[in-house]
Amino acid sequence: MQTPTPIIAANWKMFKTIDQAITFVVQLQGELGPVHDREVVIAPPFTALQAMRQIMNVPGFRLAGQNCHWEEQGAFTGEISPLMLRDAGCDYAIAGHSERRHVFGETDEETGKKVQALFRHGIVPILCVGETLEEREGGKTFDVITRQITAATEGLPPEASAKLVLAYEPVWAIGTGKTATPDQAQEVHRFIRDKCASLFDKDVAKGLRLLYGGSVKPDNVDALMAREDIDGMLVGGASLEVPSFKRIIQFHTGEK
Ligand code: 13P
Repeated sequence: MQTPTPIIAANWKMFKTIDQAITFVVQLQGELGPVHDREVVIAPPFTALQAMRQIMNVPGFRLAGQNCHWEEQGAFTGEISPLMLRDAGCDYAIAGHSERRHVFGETDEETGKKVQALFRHGIVPILCVGETLEEREGGKTFDVITRQITAATEGLPPEASAKLVLAYEPVWAIGTGKTATPDQAQEVHRFIRDKCASLFDKDVAKGLRLLYGGSVKPDNVDALMAREDIDGMLVGGASLEVPSFKRIIQFHTGEK
């Protein structure tokens, strides 16, 4: 089986105006040139999606939403639907980010409904999973990951599960400067792949792209990307400046 194309994804969270977003992408594309062997995914604030759509339309670049509701439309003040994300040019959307779960109280069940709804609208979910520090120290990491993946993928048709992107983002590593070591990340990624093999199918699991997120920086990306079950990065803080995000996109690992 072919090794999956790596994804380097930027989650800009609640940062950047439309002008700042455009300036960033124009500069990044100018410095990078064509990107062929990896996908660069950017999840800007919703307000910048439409404007970015025009300039992201080059090979190797993809647009993502940071979140969505599971309904197509309705009386849900302040929400955005998968249909609207698709309409704005998104190929991907983040589902179940830890800030959604822990700051806004999103449940496993709601995350699952978002995953299903995104697939219905032709958007590939980037499903985030990860344990808190307390859960890790209590030896619960694998139980938490199992619960999050099982709940979010229940009832997914096989053709959908084969496209799913998963991101392991340990909550204790997000925005803290404390990255999981390559060994810690690899251990959980292997567990996720094995879990997907039992939930979906062995061959499907081999082809899935499993991203790591949590204080990814230019100086740790190569060691993380070198590990067997790590197929990409989901980057917060270090994706906000062109030089650091560009260096992360240009990771090099040698042969895996
Ligand atoms: P940081 O890279 O800032 O730790 O954020 C990670 C993250 O939450 C990406 O979704």
